[in-house]
Amino acid sequence: MVLFPSSTNFNIKISSFCVLVLSVACTLYPVFSSKSCDFPAIFNFGDSNSDTGGLASLFGQPATPYGETYFHKPAGRFSDGRLKIDFIAKSLGLPYISAYLDSLGTNFTQGANFATAASTIRLPPIILPHLPAGYSPVYLSVQYAQFQQFLSRSQAVRQRGGVYANLMPKRESFRKALYTFDIGQNDLGVGFFGNKTIEEVNASIPDIVNSFSTNFKNIYNLGARSFWIHNTGPIGCLPYILAKFPLALRDRSGCAKRYNEVSQYFNHKLKEAVVQLRMDLPLAAITYVDVYSVKYSLFSNPNKYGFEKPLVACCGNGGKYNYTVDVMTCGGRLPNATLVGSCGRVSVRVNWDGIHYTEAANNFIFNQISTGAFSDTSLPLSMACIKTKNSTKNHN
Ligand SMILES: *[C@@H]1O[C@H](CO)[C@@H](O)[C@H](O)[C@H]1NC(C)=O
Ligand SMILES: *[C@@H]1O[C@H](CO)[C@@H](O)[C@H](O)[C@H]1NC(C)=O
Ligand SMILES: *[C@@H]1O[C@H](CO)[C@@H](O)[C@H](O)[C@H]1NC(C)=O
Ligand SMILES: *[C@@H]1O[C@H](CO)[C@@H](O)[C@H](O)[C@H]1NC(C)=O
Ligand SMILES: *[C@@H]1O[C@H](CO)[C@@H](O)[C@H](O)[C@H]1NC(C)=O
Repeated sequence: MVLFPSSTNFNIKISSFCVLVLSVACTLYPVFSSKSCDFPAIFNFGDSNSDTGGLASLFGQPATPYGETYFHKPAGRFSDGRLKIDFIAKSLGLPYISAYLDSLGTNFTQGANFATAASTIRLPPIILPHLPAGYSPVYLSVQYAQFQQFLSRSQAVRQRGGVYANLMPKRESFRKALYTFDIGQNDLGVGFFGNKTIEEVNASIPDIVNSFSTNFKNIYNLGARSFWIHNTGPIGCLPYILAKFPLALRDRSGCAKRYNEVSQYFNHKLKEAVVQLRMDLPLAAITYVDVYSVKYSLFSNPNKYGFEKPLVACCGNGGKYNYTVDVMTCGGRLPNATLVGSCGRVSVRVNWDGIHYTEAANNFIFNQISTGAFSDTSLPLSMACIKTKNSTKNHN
């Protein structure tokens, strides 16, 4: 992929990710009832949907107007403002979590974020800064390795005392913390942008999800107990897919139908994996969150929720989707030096730069999912430490 010659150096392609849930016969019910969990920390794993500065620490900040809405400057996030993980932290009374890779004066007492934009679950075929279409070197197994280091080394650092004791989590925080996951979209992107057929990408999903489970178990084996997993969103509703595949069949919302079906199959397998993980990991409390359905409602019914033009990027350089094939122009410069800036009405827009959601959309999604209404367990975020049992009872 290419950017305008005089644009910022942030000319990488970032594929997104997300998923759907089929209603299955296996539902869950709480074993214990009702009390907030009091999570002392959050540890997050993922891609740009939840990266709060990891890729920026490696390769540099995205350029203005990224961050314009809340931080009023680029803030390591691929959005105009905050992400779902920020709203999660805020609602739990925790500070916004910093990227593990942010080496400058960072306070990890209440969590660390291992996500980087452009991360995949499996080893990616092309690594940034290689172009076009390079992915983050920090794929999920590396995120796990970094977490493992963080767990042991943070305790050694704490023991130095003084200021160090107040920069790292307590040992017990690791057991009591909330572990959040939002990853998989880029594994689908690897296929779609690597000239694979829809069937080929679809067929790769069981292996992608197996790799997710392996990493998940590794994290559990280090003592993690409370988990909150976002499924993948409707990738076929994002401009980077719509602009790249203009002839792909559209559904009634204008989304690329079969691309979304691949997201849905990913989510189906992910949900199956969660059922298996609950059996294999008896001490884990695992909440599976159907972010796909909430995101899709923004495309099928934008006006109902106060949004407009959900298929069109707010920050781009024209075209049907305000997105240039294979190029994230947002924050770059045109050949005549004009900045590719914001549409100005970002608070009613869903898509920010062709791949990523706006703060307004992220806030909406958070409000929907935090109640438990889209969770497989029905537990709200604040109670995600409560273990549930698989039930054979059919809910519907
Ligand atoms: C780090 O943050 C925690 C609260 O999250 C605070 O108690 C602690 O004092 C901070 N550490 C430093 C060195 O400021
Ligand atoms: C996909 O195919 C196009 C056209 O044949 C080619 O230019 C491009 O390099 C291919 N991309 C990948 C990732 O193989
Ligand atoms: C993906 O594979 C599953 C299992 O074979 C199949 O049920 C589903 O229809 C496939 N989806 C697509 C979009 O090819
Ligand atoms: C630069 O180019 C863009 C797109 O071609 C155009 O809309 C804009 O008016 C131009 N700006 C200047 C200062 O010429
Ligand atoms: C496309 O992006 C440009 C540059 O940010 C913005 O001015 C324009 O309003 C956007 N178009 C739409 C339809 O949002």
